[in-house]
Amino acid sequence: MSTWANLGLQDSASPLMEQLIFFHDHALLILVMITMLVGYLMFMLFFNTFVNRFLLHGQLIEMIWTILPAIILLFIALPSLRLLYLLDEINEPSVTLKSIGHQWYWSYEYSDFNNIEFDSYMIPTNELATDGFRLLDVDNRVILPMNSQIRILVSAADVIHSWTIPALGVKVDGTPGRLNQTNFFINRPGLFYGQCSEICGANHSFMPIVIESVPVNYFIKWISNNMNS
Ligand code: CUA
Repeated sequence: MSTWANLGLQDSASPLMEQLIFFHDHALLILVMITMLVGYLMFMLFFNTFVNRFLLHGQLIEMIWTILPAIILLFIALPSLRLLYLLDEINEPSVTLKSIGHQWYWSYEYSDFNNIEFDSYMIPTNELATDGFRLLDVDNRVILPMNSQIRILVSAADVIHSWTIPALGVKVDGTPGRLNQTNFFINRPGLFYGQCSEICGANHSFMPIVIESVPVNYFIKWISNNMNS
């Protein structure tokens, strides 16, 4: 979860988010190199006193400074495309979770397990525990097993919402009348916080997501307890 003055990306909790961070750093490095080169050239122009009065064309330099940026862009485009298709890859998920956006809360369904379903509301500030996180904690968390492939099906009941968890690299729109799919793999236990990220109305800021990542045997215990009740 993000805390004070953390302006960068959160630590990853899934292989996909790790790849996204690598790509971000890679793209930023290229950006810095271009900015430095162009900045240097523009700055040095101030001090230039030489003018070539007979310069009308320069085929070679035009070729170079057209093709070179195109090649540099390829170094961003190809890894970006690789990641894009990697994010869409489904690797035989062992759990499927359905999350439905409502104004203004999320509801969840574990369709594999006797269709366990529940709503997940934000805890209002005046009801918050002293160690709770304001505008981030919910009454019913999503419990998911770590080290397993998880498929998420996202939809919405009223307007467009977006199921977004930065640490897992997941951001899927929930659209009424549609079912969107994504998947992830949580590689450590813990709490992972997320928020809706489609402007969905007055309480858009108040429908957070909390994922509780637990070892698989804990998850089985939790799921079987809830199936019997
Ligand atoms: Cu739901 Cu914004």
